Parts: sequence; C-alpha cells; structure tokens
Amino acid sequence: MVMFLAAGAAWAAPPAGPPVPAVPSNSPTALGYSAQGADTCLMCHRTNARVMAIFRSPHAQPNNPRSPFGPGGLQCEACHGPGEAHVKAFGMKPAGIVVFGPHSPTPVAKQNSMCLACHKNVARVWLTGAHAANNVSCADCHQIHAGTDPVMMQATEASVCAKCHQAVVAQFRMPYHHPVLEGTMTCSSCHDPHGSFGPDMLIKSTVNATCTSCHAAMRGPFLWEHQPVTDDCLDCHTPHGSAVASLLKEPTPILCQQCHDLAGHPSVPYGPQGLPAGMPNPYLLIGGCVNCHSRIHGSNSPSGQYLMR
Ligand code: HEC
Ligand code: HEC
Ligand code: HEC
Ligand code: HEC
Ligand code: HEC
Ligand code: HEC
Ligand code: HEC
Ligand code: HEC
Ligand code: HEC
Ligand code: HEC
Repeated sequence: MVMFLAAGAAWAAPPAGPPVPAVPSNSPTALGYSAQGADTCLMCHRTNARVMAIFRSPHAQPNNPRSPFGPGGLQCEACHGPGEAHVKAFGMKPAGIVVFGPHSPTPVAKQNSMCLACHKNVARVWLTGAHAANNVSCADCHQIHAGTDPVMMQATEASVCAKCHQAVVAQFRMPYHHPVLEGTMTCSSCHDPHGSFGPDMLIKSTVNATCTSCHAAMRGPFLWEHQPVTDDCLDCHTPHGSAVASLLKEPTPILCQQCHDLAGHPSVPYGPQGLPAGMPNPYLLIGGCVNCHSRIHGSNSPSGQYLMR
C-alpha cells in the first residue's frame, strides 16, 4: 500500500526547468485536486475498513497506467473528483466531492460519468440501455470498495439483479427454467446489463441470434424451415422459466393450434390411407403433435416437408 501512497506525490511535483509557473494552470492542484492524493484522503478515512478495501480490488494496480492508482493516476479523486475543497472544509458539506450510492446527493449521470471516462467499452453501449434511461448507477450494481465484487461473480450476479427484478428472478424457480440459480449460467449470458444494440439489452442484435449462440442446432438454415422458428424463438418459448416442459409458452396441441387450423388435420386422426379413421390416433390423444412432427425446428431430410424426419 505504501507504494500507492508514494505514487500520489509524483504528479504533484512541479516540472523541472526554467521559467514555468509554480502551479501550471492544468495541473491537478490548480483544478482542485488535493496535493498529496490518497495520502491526504486517508488522513481521515483510513480507519474505515470499507474504504481501505479498495486496495484489495482490481482498481489497485500500482503499475497499470490506466488504473486510478497507477503512475500519474489521480487515485481516490479519479472517481470522487477534485477533493481539495472537501479537505479544507474538514469533510463538512457542501464538500464538492462525488458521492456514490443510493443516498448520494450527486446526480446519477455525474456519478456514472466518473467511471465512463475510463471504461470506454461500457460507454459505447451505456446510453442505449434501459438502465441508463432509468437512472440506474454503476454503483447500484458494482461494489468498488471490495476485494471481490458480487455482481462480477457467476454465483452471485443474479442476487444483485434481484434487488430490482424480483419477479424475473422468481421465474427461474418455475419447474422448467434456464439454470441461472444453479450457477451454470447468468443473466449476463443473455443480457448485457450495460446496454446493447439488440432488443431487451440482449447480447446479440436479435432474440434468435442470442438463443442460437448456445443452441446452434436450431440455427439452420434447414432444407425445410418451420417459419416461426426462423422468425422468433419466443413464438413458442419463454426465455426465463415456464410451467410447461421445454420452456414452452403453452402445452401442445394448444401451442400449435394458435397458428394451425383446428378444423382440418391435425385435430382429425389419420388412418392408413391418410383418411380420417374410426379410432382416434393414440399419439394425437395425448396431444403430442411433436410425437409425429419431431423435427419441429426444421428438417434436412429430403422428405422432411412435414417436419416428421
Ligand atoms: C479532514 C478530514 C477529511 C479529509 C482529509 C477527507 N475527508 Fe472525506 N469526509 C470527511 C468527513 C468528516 C466526512 C463525512 C462523514 C463520513 O461520511 O465519513 C467525509 C465524507 C466523504 C465522502 C462521502 C461519504 C458518504 O458516503 O457520505 C467521500 C466520498 C469522501 N469523504 C471522500 C474523500 C476523498 C476522496 C478525500 C481525499 C481527496 C477525502 N474524503 C478527504 C473527512 C475528510
Ligand atoms: C474506482 C473508483 C473509486 C476509487 C478509486 C475510490 N472510490 Fe471511494 N467509492 C467509490 C464508490 C463507487 C463508492 C460507493 C460504495 C462502493 O461501491 O463500494 C465509494 C465510496 C466511498 C466512501 C463511502 C464509504 C462508506 O463507508 O460508505 C468513501 C469515504 C470513499 N469512497 C473514499 C475513498 C477514498 C479515500 C479513496 C482512495 C483511497 C477512494 N474512495 C477511491 C468509488 C471509488
Ligand atoms: C482512472 C481510470 C478508472 C476509473 C475512473 C474507474 N475505473 Fe474501473 N477499472 C480501471 C482499470 C484500469 C481496471 C482494470 C482493468 C483490467 O485489469 O483490465 C478497472 C476495472 C474495473 C472493473 C472490473 C473489475 C474486475 O473484477 O475485473 C469494474 C467492474 C470497474 N472497473 C468498474 C468501475 C466503476 C463502477 C467505476 C466508477 C465508480 C470505475 N470503474 C472507475 C480504470 C478505471
Ligand atoms: C445492472 C447492473 C450493472 C450496472 C448498472 C453496471 N454494471 Fe458493469 N457489469 C455488470 C455485470 C453483471 C458485469 C459482468 C458481466 C459482463 O461483463 O457483462 C459487469 C462488468 C463490468 C466491467 C468489466 C467487464 C467489461 O465489460 O469491461 C466493467 C469495467 C463495468 N462493468 C463497468 C461498469 C460501469 C462503468 C457502469 C456504469 C456506467 C456499470 N458497469 C454499470 C453489471 C452492471
Ligand atoms: C436464456 C436467455 C436469458 C437469460 C438467462 C435471462 N434473460 Fe432476461 N430476457 C431474455 C429475453 C429473450 C427477453 C425478452 C422477453 C420478451 O420479449 O418477451 C428477456 C427479458 C427480460 C426483461 C424485460 C422483460 C421482463 O420480463 O420484465 C428483464 C427485466 C430481464 N429479462 C431480466 C433478466 C434477469 C434479471 C435475468 C437473470 C436473473 C435474466 N433476465 C436472464 C433472455 C434471458
Ligand atoms: C437498482 C435497480 C436495478 C438493478 C440492480 C438491476 N436493474 Fe435491470 N432494470 C432496472 C430498471 C429501473 C429497468 C427499467 C424498467 C423495467 O424494465 O423494469 C430495468 C430494465 C432491465 C431490463 C429490460 C431492458 C429493456 O430493454 O426492456 C433488463 C434485461 C435488465 N434490467 C436486466 C438486469 C440485469 C441482468 C441485472 C443484474 C445484472 C439488473 N437488471 C439489475 C433496474 C435495475
Ligand atoms: C449461454 C447459453 C444459452 C443461451 C444464450 C440460451 N440458452 Fe437455452 N439452455 C442453455 C442451457 C445450459 C440449458 C440447460 C440444458 C440442460 O439442462 O441440459 C438450456 C435449456 C433450454 C431449453 C430447455 C431444454 C430442455 O430440455 O428442457 C430451451 C427450450 C431453451 N434453452 C431455449 C432457449 C431460448 C429460446 C433461448 C433464447 C431466448 C436460449 N435458450 C438461450 C443455454 C443457453
Ligand atoms: C413452433 C414452435 C417453436 C419455435 C418457434 C421454437 N421451438 Fe424450440 N421447441 C419447440 C417444441 C414443441 C419443443 C419440445 C420438443 C419435444 O418435446 O420433443 C422445443 C424444444 C426446444 C429445445 C429443447 C429440446 C431439444 O430439442 O433440444 C431447445 C433447446 C429449443 N427448443 C430451442 C429453440 C430455439 C433456440 C428456437 C429459436 C431458434 C426455438 N426453439 C424455436 C417448439 C418451438
Ligand atoms: C406462430 C405460429 C406457429 C406456431 C405456434 C406453430 N406453427 Fe407450424 N407453421 C407455421 C407457419 C407459418 C408454417 C408455414 C405454413 C406454410 O408454409 O403454409 C408452419 C408449418 C408447419 C408444418 C409444415 C406444413 C407444411 O405444409 O409445410 C408443420 C408440420 C407444422 N407447422 C407443425 C407445427 C406444430 C406441430 C406446431 C406446434 C409444436 C406448430 N407447427 C406451431 C406457424 C406456426
Ligand atoms: C400420428 C401422427 C401425427 C400427429 C400426432 C400429428 N400429425 Fe400433423 N401430420 C401428420 C401427417 C402424416 C401429415 C401429412 C399429411 C398429409 O399427407 O396430408 C401431417 C401434416 C400436418 C400439417 C401440414 C398439412 C396441413 O394439413 O396443413 C400440419 C400443419 C400439421 N400436420 C400439424 C399438426 C399439429 C398442429 C398436430 C397436433 C395437434 C399434428 N399435426 C399432429 C401426422 C401427424
């Protein structure tokens, strides 16, 4: 830690050589930053264990020039903004320091701009998302003063989302669901929580491209397509959880009969000649259209036009 503190003095040293103003107009001190960086802040804040935990976080990289604590970094003030006025006021308000978290007096857009200044990848998509549009802050999800940030870990990410999306998280407790609460995948396997150019902040530009990034077998193209499959997986499936097996929106045959006429085949059982037979077909009785139409996502068989092989 001594290393981080020592680095604080580096940018404060006046540049060598004649005749330059003692404090260049663009120097950190002239812009309101404290002269000793973290050393100054820690005079008062070092007894707060939560504050000190930042030195165990991925931000505390003394040799990374992009890190707040790297060579020439503004240290605490890279995120909290110029702190000299706050220091001179002995921490009293109004202190002009950027405060993070739900009870902060600092506007959310201002808080986020401190982070976005360094995180260009996030900045590229952030304004496209529902979170930016709804005043959600980086600190609503991320814990920065912590050795590990729960939202960054597969096992605990969903619990952070649950703070605001309880109803969605509950869908993953339905009988059939994607294995998020089991820890096999996370919300961010499908969503980019920062925003995206797809619908619903999905990681790909369409629903189908998102689904087939894992379920490649349903991607096609098939010799015999089933039109709703190429249109939208969500014509038949729900993404989070369902009471029906295979995450279906409705059980068959209801699912199929939303689009396929109930009056012609298939509600009428077929006999050996392809004509209606006397006895109801047992496959049909159990409602299993996919017992016969088993290639429901499409077929590559030359005679697969009815999606049966
Ligand atoms: C002279 C003592 C002192 C110094 C030096 C000091 N602070 Fe503070 N700071 C305080 C006091 C007192 C408070 C209000 C009580 C509290 O929240 O701990 C405060 C509050 C804060 C808060 C708001 C905490 C919250 O959630 O409300 C932040 C952020 C902060 N200081 C950051 C800094 C930074 C960054 C520096 C260095 C540039 C710094 N402080 C230097 C005394 C100081
Ligand atoms: C990478 C950005 C970043 C840096 C660097 C940073 N902070 Fe923070 N700070 C935050 C965020 C975000 C919070 C809100 C709580 C959290 O996310 O852990 C916070 C919270 C605080 C608080 C309130 C803590 C509490 O008890 O609630 C204080 C005080 C504070 N920071 C002081 C400092 C000091 C002193 C330093 C330098 C040693 C520093 N911060 C460096 C982002 C940063
Ligand atoms: C001075 C530039 C700078 C600022 C300001 C900054 N960061 Fe970072 N951040 C970094 C660097 C550098 C890393 C390490 C990246 C790496 O190792 O590839 C990092 C890493 C991260 C990570 C990834 C941590 C991990 O576990 O891999 C998160 C999340 C993050 N920052 C969020 C934030 C948030 C939120 C804020 C604002 C409160 C913020 N950052 C402010 C430079 C910055
Ligand atoms: C809704 C919760 C949420 C919010 C709000 C959020 N993040 Fe994240 N962030 C995550 C999750 C989850 C991950 C890990 C999965 C991933 O990489 O997409 C992550 C990863 C990161 C990473 C490391 C990976 C990368 O994409 O570079 C950085 C840096 C980061 N966030 C910065 C930010 C910044 C800056 C903000 C505010 C502008 C922010 N985050 C707001 C949830 C959030
Ligand atoms: C298998 C991919 C997948 C996973 C995993 C996933 N989602 Fe979704 N999510 C989607 C799709 C696709 C939609 C669009 C649904 C629609 O348009 O009907 C969506 C919609 C949403 C919506 C907006 C609509 C609504 O239902 O309120 C929220 C919020 C949401 N997801 C949150 C989450 C959270 C939180 C998690 C993790 C606990 C998560 N999602 C996990 C694919 C996924
Ligand atoms: C601090 C509260 C908060 C947290 C934490 C949070 N969200 Fe959100 N999220 C919102 C709000 C507010 C909206 C917009 C209103 C809505 O759709 O419910 C939203 C919307 C969404 C949407 C819908 C996007 C759209 O275009 O309709 C998705 C998907 C989503 N969040 C995913 C996540 C994921 C994944 C996490 C955890 C990594 C998360 N959220 C954590 C507040 C939050
Ligand atoms: C990150 C990879 C991933 C993405 C993206 C994804 N899934 Fe899945 N999907 C899985 C995993 C893992 C399982 C569980 C497989 C198991 O339990 O054997 C699963 C299971 C399913 C099942 C149920 C399988 C069964 O036998 O019950 C359906 C249906 C499904 N996914 C549809 C979708 C749809 C629709 C989308 C897009 C909204 C999607 N998946 C996106 C990984 C993914
Ligand atoms: C026309 C309705 C329909 C559409 C559209 C649809 N599916 Fe399905 N899907 C089903 C049915 C019905 C089953 C159950 C099959 C069974 O029980 O044999 C199923 C099962 C699945 C399964 C699990 C069983 C398996 O075969 O591995 C996955 C994964 C799946 N679908 C993914 C997708 C993806 C990805 C899309 C979009 C590209 C999609 N589905 C579009 C009807 C559909
Ligand atoms: C969202 C509407 C929709 C749903 C739901 C749907 N289908 Fe289809 N299906 C279509 C369309 C559109 C076609 C193409 C019709 C055409 O080309 O005349 C098609 C074609 C077919 C074909 C091939 C018929 C032909 O003449 O080429 C079969 C077999 C079929 N569907 C069976 C099913 C079964 C079984 C289910 C339920 C698991 C189902 N469909 C659910 C819309 C749907
Ligand atoms: C016992 C096997 C069997 C079952 C069960 C079955 N079908 Fe069929 N289906 C067929 C056969 C065989 C054909 C080809 C019919 C032909 O030759 O005219 C066909 C053709 C179709 C066609 C295309 C021809 C048309 O009439 O439009 C659709 C659509 C279709 N079935 C939907 C369904 C739906 C929906 C269900 C469930 C309610 C279902 N099928 C159940 C055997 C079955």
